Amino acid sequence: MAVAPVHPAARPDVRSDAFVFFGATGDLAFKQIFPALAGLILEDGFDLPIIGVARSGDLESLKERARESLRAHGFTDATATTTLTDHLRYVKGSDDDVETFHALRRELGEARHPLHYLAVPPSLFGEVVTNLQASGCAAGARIIVEKPFGHDLASAVALNETIHAVFAEADVFRIDHYLGKEPVRNLLYFRFANSFLEPLWNRDRVSSVQINMPEAFGVADRGAFYDQTGAIRDVVQNHLLQVVSLLAMEAPSGATTEAVRNEQFKVLDSIRPLGPDDVVRGQYLGYRDVPGVASGSSVETFAALRLHVDTWRWGGVPFYIRTGKCLPVTVTEVRVEMRRPPQAVFGEEEPRDADYFRFRLSPDMSISLGTRAKKPGEAMVGEPVELFASHQDGTEQPPYQRLIGDAVEGDQSLFSRQDAVEAAWRIVDGVLDVEATPIAYQPGTWGPPEAARLLVHGDRWHEPAPARDVAQGVG
Ligand code: BG6
Repeated sequence: MAVAPVHPAARPDVRSDAFVFFGATGDLAFKQIFPALAGLILEDGFDLPIIGVARSGDLESLKERARESLRAHGFTDATATTTLTDHLRYVKGSDDDVETFHALRRELGEARHPLHYLAVPPSLFGEVVTNLQASGCAAGARIIVEKPFGHDLASAVALNETIHAVFAEADVFRIDHYLGKEPVRNLLYFRFANSFLEPLWNRDRVSSVQINMPEAFGVADRGAFYDQTGAIRDVVQNHLLQVVSLLAMEAPSGATTEAVRNEQFKVLDSIRPLGPDDVVRGQYLGYRDVPGVASGSSVETFAALRLHVDTWRWGGVPFYIRTGKCLPVTVTEVRVEMRRPPQAVFGEEEPRDADYFRFRLSPDMSISLGTRAKKPGEAMVGEPVELFASHQDGTEQPPYQRLIGDAVEGDQSLFSRQDAVEAAWRIVDGVLDVEATPIAYQPGTWGPPEAARLLVHGDRWHEPAPARDVAQGVG
């Protein structure tokens, strides 16, 4: 295992003094950035100048788009809308024209520490970064880069080189919104704020770990993006491997940014690169008819994987991941399966419904322990009972709000570090862009039954319940 490199500390002492977003008229700005800024205005008194950069429109049309976005996201407070639109400024121009960036520098006025958010396709990152430097907009600045960070290991390394030619790692904020989710942060907290877990959390007591992230919807209007991406690039390389790193990491030496990120990196670095035997790919019937998708597309909309975490703690424990579009429910759930009792003392058929920890990450959030308890009556017969350690409905601070707020303050704790991003690409690199057609599956099912071939030691795939059943304590 490689030793984690030492990284320059972030600069939390410097607060950004302007927020710039490229791709201001795009989807991400509409769906995430405007609502996040409005939330920051309402809850944190966010008062920076906000400068949108885009090819089309003008300041008035950008303000109207911001209003529409806030209406669509349920903001009823007029203060948020007015403050946001009052702070908005606009630079019209293209990302490959350095004049756009000179205009941006003029618009920045007195600001010396702008935060630049690249809400544009990754193919444009290089040009934007180069032009930021050429125009003086990069000096003293930070940059937020949206996922995907590269398309594979080689392009991620090249992208990091491009960015590092201008920005130090301490000023680079790679967004993976999963890291900003409350229940994902709770994984780290729950593991290391309690002592009872530690003696159980290893290969002696855990038989397998399983992460399910089914989504009940298809790729809808994202066909062109998704057909260049697929399930492994879209959510496994980033969101789900981040979850694995938090589940499998060693205790950090403290709560500092680098202490935690060092341990996350070490886990990713210890995972064996995936080969064809570790993956089952699927594609839902009807995917090829989605606008933007190639008629003979071999891109996967479903992936099931078995990871080998080659550490002293986890050697031999399979980590399963299953995700896909058009599956029966939209849920993200982790299940840590404990070893069976050594004897069937009560003569019951081996029950497969107990001895686990369940971390529900969305849409609701809970941590529970699956057990068996005796049913009332003469017979020594049991039933599954879940002990809930915590349960909350889905209301939390939106991840983008938290993450943009952290970037303004220079706090990198919830952002992906370069080495971890590259380690995650190294894990999946060998199973990307497979030419073979994925196995077809009917929408509304759990994907190709062939996913069962990944399971070892009598393990099975779990089918997380919709939110209402879980709230009633049925696992
Ligand atoms: C995004 C993916 O990063 O994460 C989407 O591009 C996916 O395909 C989404 O649906 C899931 O995140 P969340 O927070 O909506 O569960």
